[in-house]
Amino acid sequence: MQPFGKRLRSYDGYYIAIALVSTFLCCLLLLPKICPGCGPGTSTLIAFVNALGGGNPLIRYLPIQRTAPGNITLLAIGDSITFGLWSSGPFNGYRLCLLNLLTGTEPVWSVNQTVSPDALFQHVTYVGSSRIGNFSNNRHQGEGGETIARIQYLFERAVENYGAAPDAVLLMAGANDINEDVDLPRAPSRLGDLIDALFWRFPRTVVIVSELTPVKNNATLERRKIAFNEAVPALIEARERLNWKIIGVNMSAVFELPHDMADTLHPSDAGYAKMATEWLRGLTEAKDRGWFDWGADDEDASAIDDG
Ligand SMILES: *[C@@H]1O[C@H](CO)[C@@H](O)[C@H](O)[C@H]1NC(C)=O
Ligand SMILES: *[C@@H]1O[C@H](CO)[C@@H](O)[C@H](O)[C@H]1NC(C)=O
Ligand SMILES: *[C@@H]1O[C@H](CO)[C@@H](O)[C@H](O)[C@H]1NC(C)=O
Ligand SMILES: *[C@@H]1O[C@H](CO)[C@@H](O)[C@H](O)[C@H]1NC(C)=O
Ligand SMILES: *[C@@H]1O[C@H](CO)[C@@H](O)[C@H](O)[C@H]1NC(C)=O
Repeated sequence: MQPFGKRLRSYDGYYIAIALVSTFLCCLLLLPKICPGCGPGTSTLIAFVNALGGGNPLIRYLPIQRTAPGNITLLAIGDSITFGLWSSGPFNGYRLCLLNLLTGTEPVWSVNQTVSPDALFQHVTYVGSSRIGNFSNNRHQGEGGETIARIQYLFERAVENYGAAPDAVLLMAGANDINEDVDLPRAPSRLGDLIDALFWRFPRTVVIVSELTPVKNNATLERRKIAFNEAVPALIEARERLNWKIIGVNMSAVFELPHDMADTLHPSDAGYAKMATEWLRGLTEAKDRGWFDWGADDEDASAIDDG
């Protein structure tokens, strides 16, 4: 029989190694919280942790709770363009048009054509901690005047009160970073962090990311917007490669100036209607890929609840 003291000593190294490795892993997992924007490593790390079982063990993440096939919950997140500044209702933004398109209720006018409603889903429910607009199903997470980093901060606070993950997220952010000239070279990387934060919380959700809408009558802002938008496809591709359910949409492709803009940064009713047609395109693509189908994946998702 070995002396107790000697045996303990032989295990000391393991304990120290385990402590060091745990500390290292904890630091890595907390990195997005401690230092938003710290490196391209974050999304790879999330993919790794998700592959091991899904979700960051240090962050409470939410499973999707599907009520019925054909029912979908949507989280519209972003800034004043998400809540619909200057649109009729007031403030229905793109959300009412999109709701009508998705449920087959009302057509909208886009580029030289009427986009007919398709009844892609039977019931659409918007989620989020705020409400605005003249219709009852008007929840959203549009944070007026806020930059990407602040939108992420406010999302992290709000999500604590979400009962479940939405089926899909509609994300457009960055207009205020551009307007206020906030560390623009790193603005796309902050958008990447916000996307990652969404996937941390909602590992199985479809995230549709929009490039920024056009700028009217301000060449400086237009230049900044173009630089920002040019970086967005790479952010999306990097996350597609991790097999995340992510799709990019491009509002500039359908906007016509000046009448689709109400002011420098905010769409008019016509512009918001076109935004709805682009979100519809993204959601249709996600549906065609089977990302909203009920299946093994979803049973799996509802089994994961470490609340
Ligand atoms: C689908 O959503 C609608 C509207 O929220 C609700 O009335 C209906 O019960 C849902 N269907 C199922 C099967 O949960
Ligand atoms: C709500 O606003 C829309 C414009 O987006 C308008 O067409 C509609 O008549 C309004 N509905 C009510 C009940 O006020
Ligand atoms: C829309 O119509 C105008 C005028 O006929 C034409 O110049 C433009 O190319 C059309 N746009 C698209 C996207 O078809
Ligand atoms: C363009 O927008 C920036 C930021 O809001 C502002 O400082 C600048 O004065 C604007 N330029 C013009 C020509 O309106
Ligand atoms: C988005 O659309 C605009 C206008 O058509 C185009 O210039 C830009 O290249 C498009 N962006 C992407 C990523 O395709």
